[in-house]
Amino acid sequence: MPLLDKIKNHSAVIGVVGLGYVGLPLAVLQTQTGYRVIGIDEDSEKVDLANKGKSYIGDVPDKDLAQAVGTKRFSASTNLELIDQCDVILICVPTPLTVNKEPDISAIIKVTQAIAKYAHPGMLVVLESTSYPGTTEEVIVPELVKRNFEIGKDLFVAFSPERVDPGNPSFKTHNTYKLVGGITPACCAMAQTFYEQSIAKIFPTSSTKVAEMTKVFENVFRSVNIALVNELAMLCDRMDINVFEVIDAAATKNFGFMPFYPGPGVGGHCIPLDPYYLSWKSKEYDLHTRFIELAGEINEGMPYFVLAKLQRILNQRGQCLNGSVILVLGVTYKADNGDPRQSPATKVMELLQKEGAQLTYVDPYAEKFKIGNIEYSAKKLSPALLSECQCTLILTAHSSFDYEMIVEHAPVVLDTRNGTQHVPGKK
Ligand SMILES: NC(=O)c1ccc[n+]([C@@H]2O[C@H](COP(=O)([O-])OP(=O)(O)OC[C@H]3O[C@@H](n4cnc5c(N)ncnc54)[C@H](O)[C@@H]3O)[C@@H](O)[C@H]2O)c1
Repeated sequence: MPLLDKIKNHSAVIGVVGLGYVGLPLAVLQTQTGYRVIGIDEDSEKVDLANKGKSYIGDVPDKDLAQAVGTKRFSASTNLELIDQCDVILICVPTPLTVNKEPDISAIIKVTQAIAKYAHPGMLVVLESTSYPGTTEEVIVPELVKRNFEIGKDLFVAFSPERVDPGNPSFKTHNTYKLVGGITPACCAMAQTFYEQSIAKIFPTSSTKVAEMTKVFENVFRSVNIALVNELAMLCDRMDINVFEVIDAAATKNFGFMPFYPGPGVGGHCIPLDPYYLSWKSKEYDLHTRFIELAGEINEGMPYFVLAKLQRILNQRGQCLNGSVILVLGVTYKADNGDPRQSPATKVMELLQKEGAQLTYVDPYAEKFKIGNIEYSAKKLSPALLSECQCTLILTAHSSFDYEMIVEHAPVVLDTRNGTQHVPGKK
């Protein structure tokens, strides 16, 4: 049966490679759509959990995963050879940076080589991982054509970025516009038909490069605006102006302004990384993307600003950081979310540790948190804990924190997120 018919009548087998924050929700969505889904991940622990219907991703409730497993249309494996049973392959592997902040697309290359080995004519291959413009055309296609597949005829290749906002209660994959760019118009049309089966709104682009550039631009946009407001926060601190009040006041303008909020840095698998994919690529075209570099510099400087401010606060109280007990509230990168990746708390706590501070932390989303060789265990928030620490440092403002209790019992609070905004008489 032609691939298009298999996609339309849901008899196509979907392979999702990489069952992480992006891949697992996508695999569940495709199972709910009616397809048979094979999830492939090199991490055997994740594979075992997925097969037992036990979710390890906050956005996927156990109930949904168990239901997917129960249909017998979803199964997970570590075996890349299963690609040969699939009609559609969705690549959802990580795209980190090297220590020198250069793109590390080794996982994409490894998976592409496996696809080239096990592919058969009549397959759709879609890259969902974020990468620099040109990845699909310059990295994926050359591997696939080594087996003499004709792109747009035997094999359909597209880029369709995941835009999931982890923890967002309103927007999930199924109701967020899905960009689709194909290597050829036939590739784009095939990918569009596939995503139309499960996602309400599809936006086709004229090429894979446009879709790739759009995805990184979205994250550059956030990084630059966060940097702008972080710089404003540092100025407001010097001028003794409440930056959060300024932002709320500016947000009353109902056109031409969009609020972004300052913090102790940026975190997660997107904003701290993706812009560097573009700045790296831009050098090939003799262009230095100064906004990206500047935003990175400011955002990466925020943990140092927090350190300096904490030292100043303690100094004003006749104390010093060395030997002081600092209670960190919130270590995950985002409020009400358990994702610890690239959390600014890591850098802030590392800096505090180096200065001789004694650290303790509370986070209902992270039982353990490792800084260097030290693994900390989360404490329970209590008046006694608050009062025995020299300073309470709010790095992530989870909504479950009792901010009134924090302000009442902590000797002093450094609130980098404005979590205490509604507490009268906050310190
Ligand atoms: N997390 C987000 O909010 C988000 C949002 C949009 C886009 N993205 C992008 O999506 C991609 C995936 O991100 P994620 O957050 O899901 O990452 P993740 O680390 O949560 O998941 C990736 C999974 O791929 C597996 N993996 C790695 N190499 C593999 C290989 N060679 N073969 C099989 N499995 C392999 C890992 O074990 C892991 O389970 C990245 O490019 C990221 O930038 C992420």
